[in-house]
Amino acid sequence: MSTTIDLPILAEAPSPAPFPNTSPTEATGDGRTVYIETYGCQMNASDSEIVLGVLDGRGYRSVDSADKADVVLLNTCAIRDNAERKIHERLSALQHLKKGNSDLVVGVLGCMAERLRAKLLEKELVDIVVGPDEYRTVPDLVDKALHGDKGIAVKLSRVETYDDITPVRTEGISAWVSIMRGCDKFCTFCVVPFTRGRERSRNVTSVVDELKALQDQGFREVTLLGQNVNSYRDDVSGADFADLLAASARAVPTMRIRYTTSHPQDMSDKLIDTMAEWHNICKYIHLPIQSGSNRILELMNRTYTVEHYFERMDRIRAVMPHVAMSTDIIAGFCTETEDDHQRTLDAMRRVRYDGAYMFAYSPRENTKAWKMGDDVADDIKSRRLQEIIDLQHSISAEINAAEVGRLHDVLVEGPSKRNGAEWKGRSDTNKTVIFPHIGETTADYVVGDTIRVRITRSTSATLFGERVE
Ligand code: 5AD
Ligand code: SF4
Repeated sequence: MSTTIDLPILAEAPSPAPFPNTSPTEATGDGRTVYIETYGCQMNASDSEIVLGVLDGRGYRSVDSADKADVVLLNTCAIRDNAERKIHERLSALQHLKKGNSDLVVGVLGCMAERLRAKLLEKELVDIVVGPDEYRTVPDLVDKALHGDKGIAVKLSRVETYDDITPVRTEGISAWVSIMRGCDKFCTFCVVPFTRGRERSRNVTSVVDELKALQDQGFREVTLLGQNVNSYRDDVSGADFADLLAASARAVPTMRIRYTTSHPQDMSDKLIDTMAEWHNICKYIHLPIQSGSNRILELMNRTYTVEHYFERMDRIRAVMPHVAMSTDIIAGFCTETEDDHQRTLDAMRRVRYDGAYMFAYSPRENTKAWKMGDDVADDIKSRRLQEIIDLQHSISAEINAAEVGRLHDVLVEGPSKRNGAEWKGRSDTNKTVIFPHIGETTADYVVGDTIRVRITRSTSATLFGERVE
């Protein structure tokens, strides 16, 4: 990457010495209860499991609601302004719990903690503020808070990967495994390089060992996580992300393997070929395009052109014709014109994504784009976003309608939310599939099985079908 970057501050509060999450002699939680509420991306979901792992090793027990807990932690997101607004609202709503229980410890973790730091402690109710690289300090900070001292730990690390922490996972068949942390891409709109620090990877052996343990525990699917997995590198063995994927697929042949998120600049032929080669690597790629205009991509510092993006896409589809694709799109970035916006719609028509995450541009303080201004009026931004959403909706509906009659191998997840007589699962291509359930005694499949389903109807979001033998 050729642009100069302002590195985030790397020191603020000293960290205590690290400790493993298994030593009973250090237990300080004494059976106290903790509740974590998670906002934002899958990386945060995975981090919450790591925080629970750290607390579990110190004698804390996790509970499923704030009113049962001695310690309430919000693991936060700072990616857009409305993500932060939600947290402020949630903190206000927690005031009543604190009034009823003055011993309650309230903590803010994650990207918003890293971004706002001590400012969050100005809120009377917040006792501890902990950034993404300081989760080992949570038990000590909670102890101090119980003695009336507020605490903050927001130092970013160049090495922390929580490799030795065993995450406490919620029961199920799918698990998150973070393989790298941080991001060095510095897209000009994005706060993540400032809140999560520099890229660093776990080594292949540690990831593969974790996958084998998950397979032994009965997990059937794993999603390898990183802000930009294509930058994965094992400094010990020299393995890149394609090597890690292949090693994972080989190590846990009965598990489905997914990953997210990729960057179009680094979507190598080797990675595409590795995906095609292994039956248990899911044929689904999330590849954020952000904009269909080269002028805007340059202002965003995305380091690729739409032509490069299309070429990668064509290659992916040549090698994996039935692959499903999704993307991220930002509407109304600084200086975006009607022509730029039309180019984004054109790119969507060209690629025909199965799904998309679509956002209005939200300026973030301290990013490069912050200084470029936010000059697309709100009503224009909203209208463009709506056009993008409408187009995606119709493309998804068309793509899903073409699925009718096709067969999918569906990993059974359990009852669907809407109707107890129906169960749901996911296709290899990451689509939700709903199918009739004929009762525990007669259905010869259980949660975690893979069954074959013929698609009979569809909407833009969901496929419906019937089991075939
Ligand atoms: N405004 C709007 N969307 C953003 N994203 C990241 N930063 C911003 C921002 N400031 C989106 C990008 C990214 C996804 C995770 O969130 O599309 O890929
Ligand atoms: Fe943010 Fe860009 Fe890094 Fe993704 S690649 S986390 S959008 S800076």
